[in-house]
Amino acid sequence: MRGLLFAANWKMNLGPSDASAYMASFLPAFDPRPDRMVWFFPPALSVNSVVAAVRDSGRHDIVVGVQDIYWEPKGAFTGAISGPLAAQAGARAVLIGHSERRHVFGETDEQTGKKLAAAIAAELHPVLCVGETLEQRDAGQTLAVATRQLNAALAGRAATARVTIAYEPVWAIGTGRNATPRDAATVHAAIRAWLEQQGAAETQILYGGSVNLKNAAELLAEPELDGVLVGGASLDPQAWGELVRTAVA
Ligand code: PGA
Repeated sequence: MRGLLFAANWKMNLGPSDASAYMASFLPAFDPRPDRMVWFFPPALSVNSVVAAVRDSGRHDIVVGVQDIYWEPKGAFTGAISGPLAAQAGARAVLIGHSERRHVFGETDEQTGKKLAAAIAAELHPVLCVGETLEQRDAGQTLAVATRQLNAALAGRAATARVTIAYEPVWAIGTGRNATPRDAATVHAAIRAWLEQQGAAETQILYGGSVNLKNAAELLAEPELDGVLVGGASLDPQAWGELVRTAVA
């Protein structure tokens, strides 16, 4: 059976009480299935609400994570959260190097690498996001950018760490313009080849960027895709439940 991962990145949406209402609506909208997992990345302030809802439901197919961490475990870093703090709140996963961290907040490859190491140290499962800008794509650098970002964060670590990769072309995020299933599969195959070289062939690779109810099935028909990372289309609990339920037979 092909196990698929449906990851919801809420970004800076849904506070603690919104998150509780969301889960009350989502849980009955999607019954667990052995061939799919659902991961939620709420804002850090809402992690507790989602963790409590999942715990009370007794479900094991849902994992909660945070959207970013700082690499130091604790200390005088006003406004930041760390891996150990996120784990204490019940998070089990973390997005690392999301394009908004890289391009809105100026996160460098080096910082992404430090955060990935910190996630592993805190026993959080990292979802490392890679992907090119439109300019880089037009310059034919798509595969070079993905490889550079993989090398910077993961070289030498891929085989021992439990990691998931998300390929998210920057030009497709929040724009309504998704990569074609073929385009996505081509980049996924290159990422897979890199992972094989690192002795990590089994690593899951997700696609993200304007995935929605209309295009999810077509994208997931590509066997190179092990799941999706979804922003905007995960914010409505009923629509997200329907996407997870119907995107594959
Ligand atoms: P989107 O965002 O689905 O709204 O394009 C995806 C992401 O940034 O993870």
